[in-house]
Amino acid sequence: MKTIKIGNLKLANPLILAPMVDVTDLPYRLLCRRAGASLAFTEMLYIDAILHENKKTKNLMKTNKEDKPIGLQITGNSEEEFEKFVKSGKWKDFELIDLNCGCPSLRITGNEAGSYLLRNPEKISRMIKILKKTGKPVTAKIRLGFRKNNVVEVAREIEKAGADALTLHPRLAIDGRDVPAEWSWIKKVKDEIKIPVIGNGDVFSKEDVERMFKETGCDGVMIARGAIGDPLIFERILNYLGNSTRRRRVNDKTRFASDINKKTSIDREELSVEDVKKNLKMFKEYVKLEKKFFGDEGDFGRVKYVGGKFLRGFKGAGNKREELMSFMTIEEIDKFINTLIS
Ligand SMILES: Cc1cc2nc3c(=O)[nH]c(=O)nc-3n(C[C@H](O)[C@H](O)[C@H](O)COP(=O)(O)O)c2cc1C
Repeated sequence: MKTIKIGNLKLANPLILAPMVDVTDLPYRLLCRRAGASLAFTEMLYIDAILHENKKTKNLMKTNKEDKPIGLQITGNSEEEFEKFVKSGKWKDFELIDLNCGCPSLRITGNEAGSYLLRNPEKISRMIKILKKTGKPVTAKIRLGFRKNNVVEVAREIEKAGADALTLHPRLAIDGRDVPAEWSWIKKVKDEIKIPVIGNGDVFSKEDVERMFKETGCDGVMIARGAIGDPLIFERILNYLGNSTRRRRVNDKTRFASDINKKTSIDREELSVEDVKKNLKMFKEYVKLEKKFFGDEGDFGRVKYVGGKFLRGFKGAGNKREELMSFMTIEEIDKFINTLIS
């Protein structure tokens, strides 16, 4: 199995859980780690929110010993605030700091942060240099560009600034999810720079992971939507990659060759009855962890949204999700899961 080194951080395997707003809090990250994800991130936090930390931000920054290694993902527009952040020491609990240069949301780009930063590679470079003063590994998560593709220029600047790795989600900021992620750009960037390149976008199955490695030569694969409501995707991929390495040794190598630029599959893997049952148990554990870490301060809306995703493959999932949305307390959700499991 390939490993990946980001600065001084050696990961156990190359499968990484993506940062996701409203999903990747401490409980969710723990489930994915237990299933094998080797690195996880907080959801994107605006630097301003970290500096003026309120209860919600504190909860989003919550981590623990099992939640290792953990990356803090930030964005912002002001180098002055980045300097303040470095001085604040609020990054001390994290092994890595990731600069978000990919968020397309108007709320963020309207503030000249997230993917808007791609318009100004020199600014990204200055921000990375400031973050490097923490002494922690620093990475950046980028797209192909804001409106036009300038990914090679941005990637070179990021490397030159001293970043330890880069994640590429190969779509423009203006592209919707119906535009396929162009993996060929992951290969182009990989060929241009020496720091590790993590590929991201449209990975929904073990076969997708295998194909992304093969077609792009990337060092790691980051999974977002494929892991929502299905943390066990990491376990299935790791089992498969272990076995496929063995298979490849005995079988004809060309069996695994696939065309570069082939359209990526956005089909989710069909889950077996066993997998669906396992995910219901994960749902139960998720609710337990949300209660344990956040108690009454938890984000109930999030639990219902993420919880509904665990029902994929369950017979009558649509109706069950509607029922789930009607609940007013976490105890009701608990009872609901127990009836589904029994
Ligand atoms: C619900 C949701 C929340 C997201 N939040 C973030 C975020 O906080 N930071 C970030 O860099 N990307 C965020 N993304 C983008 C993903 O990390 C990822 O780049 C994108 O979804 C493509 O990967 P996928 O095809 O595996 O979903 C988010 C995506 C989703 C679906």
